[in-house]
Amino acid sequence: MKSLVYLTESQGAGSRVLQALNSLYVIEEISVAKVTADDLKQSGFLLIDLAEMRESSLDRLRALLPFNPDTPSAALINVFKRQEVVQMKALGIPTFWDRGTSEETIIADIKKQFGSYGMPQLEPSVPEATAKAIEDVCQVYERLSIAYALGKPLPLKAAGNAIESVIGAINMDGLAAWLDAVEGHHSQTICHSLSVMGLVVQFSKMLALTDVERLLLGLGALYHDLGKLKIPLAVLDKPGALTPDERALINMHPKYGEEILEQHPEVPPVVRAMTLNHHEFLDGTGYPNGLSGDAISRPVRLLTICDIFSALSEKRSYKEPMSPRQAFGILWEMGDKLDRSLLSAFKDLILSVDVGAVKNQSYEAV
Ligand SMILES: [Fe+2]
Ligand SMILES: [Fe+2]
Repeated sequence: MKSLVYLTESQGAGSRVLQALNSLYVIEEISVAKVTADDLKQSGFLLIDLAEMRESSLDRLRALLPFNPDTPSAALINVFKRQEVVQMKALGIPTFWDRGTSEETIIADIKKQFGSYGMPQLEPSVPEATAKAIEDVCQVYERLSIAYALGKPLPLKAAGNAIESVIGAINMDGLAAWLDAVEGHHSQTICHSLSVMGLVVQFSKMLALTDVERLLLGLGALYHDLGKLKIPLAVLDKPGALTPDERALINMHPKYGEEILEQHPEVPPVVRAMTLNHHEFLDGTGYPNGLSGDAISRPVRLLTICDIFSALSEKRSYKEPMSPRQAFGILWEMGDKLDRSLLSAFKDLILSVDVGAVKNQSYEAV
């Protein structure tokens, strides 16, 4: 899916609409002074913030007319300022919202015209139950992103139902089918969470955990990278290697997850711990708090193993995936950082899954 181009008078305007959209679409924020015809051609949706726009900026926009006719466009204006309404019409922009319009309405309208970034386009060969479960989870992700953006309660009940759907799909079609199918998702961020979720629910089954425990762990897997909602998708799904600053921003996600969860006491403690601590290591070398030993609970230990394995096995724009055997080798070499008894059990689970080729050794947990 193409990016949504957000044109403003000056870059970094940081409107609340933009903040809300950042966790739902890959946004390119471009100042009117710098925008080129190519930027417009490559956009999938054009949103122009016309509020208080200077005459020189309007001249720049007029010089770029006509905008790409295949790209839906919309403007943010102040409807009580006649001049802005006239400017919008002169630019031929068909849709507009007043700046006081709720983010909820704007998001719903954009979704209607532009589609949903989070929904996958699955191959027809994906088994039915697996395809249905992936769609269920992706819908929950979208609801989660919108709930975060609008400050509403997180969709726990729908998330629980989606996990039930994942458990049922993997029982029917198997873990390998799940991992193969989720790899087709165009968002590497969503693909990662789907993959971790499949590994966690199947690992929990292998460890003979109860249905309730399995559901909670699945929920923890779905929510574990919750803090990434505070990071623009344009960084998370960047098609290329990250800069050190971008990597540092992404490494903030457990802390960001903690900040989000402070507003949501309804989230169960197990899920909370999994979100906060999944980058901690038993020897105290992890982050964000350098926890060690018993301070790291068993559900978190289990998730950490699945999380790293998943990061190693996934295909990224800048690296090829590792085979299960090779990824397991890296986990095993991490020594006292991970729970060895859980890791021994995990070996039986993943060595039966053939999901990739041995090509690359680099590892960065996400
Ligand atoms: Fe993470
Ligand atoms: Fe992760």
